[in-house]
Amino acid sequence: MDRIVVRGGRRLSGTVQASGSKNATLALMAAAILTDGETVLRNVPRVRDVGTMAKILGALGVACEWDADDDHVLRIRAGRVSHPEAPYELVRQMRASFLVLGPLVARLGTGRVSEPGGCAIGVRPVDQHLKGLEALGAKIRLDHGYVEASAGQLTGARVAFDVSTVNGTQNVMMAAVLARGRTVIENAAREPEVAELARVLGAMGAQIAGVGTDKIEIEGVARLGGVDHTVWGDRIEIGTLLAAGLVTRGDVTVHGADPGLLESTLEKLREAGAEVEVLRDAIRLRAADRARGIKIVTAPYPGFPTDMQAQLMAALTLADGSSVVTETVFENRFMHVPELVRMGADIEVAGRAAHVRGVATLSGAPVMATDLRASAGLILAGLAAEGDTIVNRVYHIDRGYERIEDKLRRLGAEIRRESEEG
Ligand code: EPU
Repeated sequence: MDRIVVRGGRRLSGTVQASGSKNATLALMAAAILTDGETVLRNVPRVRDVGTMAKILGALGVACEWDADDDHVLRIRAGRVSHPEAPYELVRQMRASFLVLGPLVARLGTGRVSEPGGCAIGVRPVDQHLKGLEALGAKIRLDHGYVEASAGQLTGARVAFDVSTVNGTQNVMMAAVLARGRTVIENAAREPEVAELARVLGAMGAQIAGVGTDKIEIEGVARLGGVDHTVWGDRIEIGTLLAAGLVTRGDVTVHGADPGLLESTLEKLREAGAEVEVLRDAIRLRAADRARGIKIVTAPYPGFPTDMQAQLMAALTLADGSSVVTETVFENRFMHVPELVRMGADIEVAGRAAHVRGVATLSGAPVMATDLRASAGLILAGLAAEGDTIVNRVYHIDRGYERIEDKLRRLGAEIRRESEEG
């Protein structure tokens, strides 16, 4: 397994291009199951989770191939879905695999997906996904660790989620587009990845109103056609690169960004003392001084994203003053804290809140985390720490960032990837 070695102390400066959104891509790949036409996705990030979803599609019998001329273009054709079952071996690697259940039952009347279970950031049930599919008329059965959904023909219904769930909203939306009649999803997640999926489904022929709001209305159609879509920039990768600018007191410009999708993140970066300038297709962050201590509370969109929490906390460990970081979306998303403390950070966790007292310096250390965003936070801390930080189990970073070390190196970071043996 690879590791990343960061030598801290360089102020990052320069321009970098963001990749396409990982989480949008995963849902869009699942949506390809809904049509026998060709789904072409462009600007797809080459990250491990996308590879896992491609394997899932392969296991279902769906053709999914990288374009011969452009290695960020995926071509998917679900002419036939010969084997509507997502196996444990793949689902256990990535919970988002569960996104294929809605499309399978909508297109074929049946789907079987391994129950994803818990993961490093918490219990993460799928009860809301199942509640939505049941409301549309699917019969749900749990069988030997698998969730089976079956229905002759799904029928539109009212679905009111008890919690705001991104993948739950996407799953039910994908089922409802081919259901008979009208579905209303209340308390729908408003994340941009939900809106992007709705727009793409619309381009495939679905009838969806209320895109981007918490009430989505869908009029079912008999069939959907193919689509050619360029995936929007990854707002979390963009936020991560900007936070790298903050922690190193640098001057970083990230292209491929839709600044409108990052407002809460930009607001917190500004509050922490950075100068953030929104350009036409880019965001520039300049940070001349130490960050200031701030309060952060994660929340569903348009609130501050839980997926940015670890990276911003890493930057705040070096702030002038104290910060309070409260995680309200997942119950166990502070795996980076003990590792940051090993680097000299002063952080105390009490329930859902982490109290961060800024320190003047961090010292490089071997670290490890079992969550993608936590690992990114550790790289950011390493960029500003004295000496070398070795981030082990790079596997987690590779799940969601395409060659993050190359992007950071382009900005002047001293960072390299090594295989664990040498
Ligand atoms: N929840 C339930 N029941 C459900 C579904 C969710 O109780 O049926 C709870 C979860 O346990 C959690 C909260 O609702 O406490 C929100 O979870 P949500 O369903 O919104 O998360 P998700 O859809 O599984 C996506 C992203 C995550 C991101 C969250 C929140 C994908 C593939 N994943 O997960 O991304 O943190 O939304 O924004 O879209 C990441 O990229 O690192 C990542 C973890």
